[in-house]
Amino acid sequence: MQTSTKPDREGLRPDSAVLVLFGASGDLAKRKLIPGLYHLYRAGLMPENFRIIGSAPAEVKMDVEGFVEVARSSVGTFGRREGADADFDGFAKSLSYCAASTSDFSGLAAAVNDARKETGAETAVFYLAVPPPAFIPVIKALGTGGLAQGSRLIIEKPFGYDLKSAKELNTAIHGSFSEDEVYRIDHFLGKEAVQNILALRFANGIFEPAWHRSFLEYVQLDVPETLTIEGRGAFYEETGAYRDMIVTHLLQVLGFLAMEPPEKLDARSLNAAKNNVFAALRPLTKADVVFGQYEGYLQEPGVAAGSRTETLVAARVWIDNDRWSGVPFYLRTGKAMGAEKSVATLGFRVPDLGRFEEANVPLRGTASNQLVLDLGDPGSIEVAFLAKTPGVTMDVAPASLSFSYAESFNMRYELAAYERLLHDALLGDRTLFNAAEGIERLWEASAPLLEDPPRPVAYAKGTFGPDEVTKLIEPYSWKLG
Ligand code: BG6
Repeated sequence: MQTSTKPDREGLRPDSAVLVLFGASGDLAKRKLIPGLYHLYRAGLMPENFRIIGSAPAEVKMDVEGFVEVARSSVGTFGRREGADADFDGFAKSLSYCAASTSDFSGLAAAVNDARKETGAETAVFYLAVPPPAFIPVIKALGTGGLAQGSRLIIEKPFGYDLKSAKELNTAIHGSFSEDEVYRIDHFLGKEAVQNILALRFANGIFEPAWHRSFLEYVQLDVPETLTIEGRGAFYEETGAYRDMIVTHLLQVLGFLAMEPPEKLDARSLNAAKNNVFAALRPLTKADVVFGQYEGYLQEPGVAAGSRTETLVAARVWIDNDRWSGVPFYLRTGKAMGAEKSVATLGFRVPDLGRFEEANVPLRGTASNQLVLDLGDPGSIEVAFLAKTPGVTMDVAPASLSFSYAESFNMRYELAAYERLLHDALLGDRTLFNAAEGIERLWEASAPLLEDPPRPVAYAKGTFGPDEVTKLIEPYSWKLG
């Protein structure tokens, strides 16, 4: 087993910082952000001096004691197992709270200034963990309140609803912040196994040349989820699976899977490489897409009668460039499905198998000749191939080579996706964050589909979608069922 690099390498501890958490009482703050910040604190990856100012509108009726209690219980409930212990009191000393409504940020400005003096922080980082309608008012209030200058903005998804709203959001952001102060977060890019796509491709002579239409017949990215939209009916009705997952997460991972070798592994080069993929993305239309809706969705609270919101998407996507011409990329994701997984599969062209006449040769498109990347936490990789079976005949049968993060590396220093990205933003490293241009292009390529979407087909909970989903990928098949 290898030991991974220790996080106390010089330069990994961010400079003093003030972090303002808008949406301090919300679900994301409770489930991911506060436990994540606490974990960074325990791992020695928070700045020596920092302050986290929780914020929400006055109607939320929270104060500093209330915020500390929310933080304590979210660390206890959602933190890592060894989480809720004596260290929390040390962490809690850095927590404060300031109610703020967008009509007047003067109280918040005073709180940020005081915290900067106390900690010696040069930068304030504003995290917008708020519902999308609040993005623009908060961004404008940060600008007019004099808080944006020299600060950083972390903004959550969904980044817009379509091209027009994404452009409006970018215009509002650029009215207060310069592009290099903006951190558009997509937590999938914070996942260790997703970043490993870049290592696997660009550090290995075994794989790098194979990542090409000459060797690959198709690529698929399969991200089924078992959860229903339980409790999120109103949000989901506005969003649907395409906006919630495809335009946000799966197409970004596709950017990693399909990019040309970036000049460097920095923000400029990675975004440029992803943007080139997105520029070559053939606009999606309903001819290449199946929408599904799980049975029972219409009975969920907050869902409109007769709603046509999709809870599942399967799409065939084409990248019209020299590397990928003629290679279909299949994407699938959905709620209430038969597995909870994130798996990218590269299907290789199979040689003529006629010479193995006697053998029980699996058909083209089945599980042999594949490179399978499980993008879960922790991830794994499998190479599926055909090998001779022992004995006097020249039979071949499926065999595999596998790598698992958990079995091969010491995972002690692993960071969860949000932890990694929070730490990057505190360091001022935008490598894993998304640029305005790429996001706008994804909305542009999605427009024909979103303007004229297919009608969702019903599927039973716990399955992998309706038959149309299976047909879409033929003659291949979905890795997970
Ligand atoms: C979120 C979506 O961005 O990602 C959710 O809004 C989805 O609907 C989630 O369940 C999946 O993230 P993860 O990290 O659990 O795979």
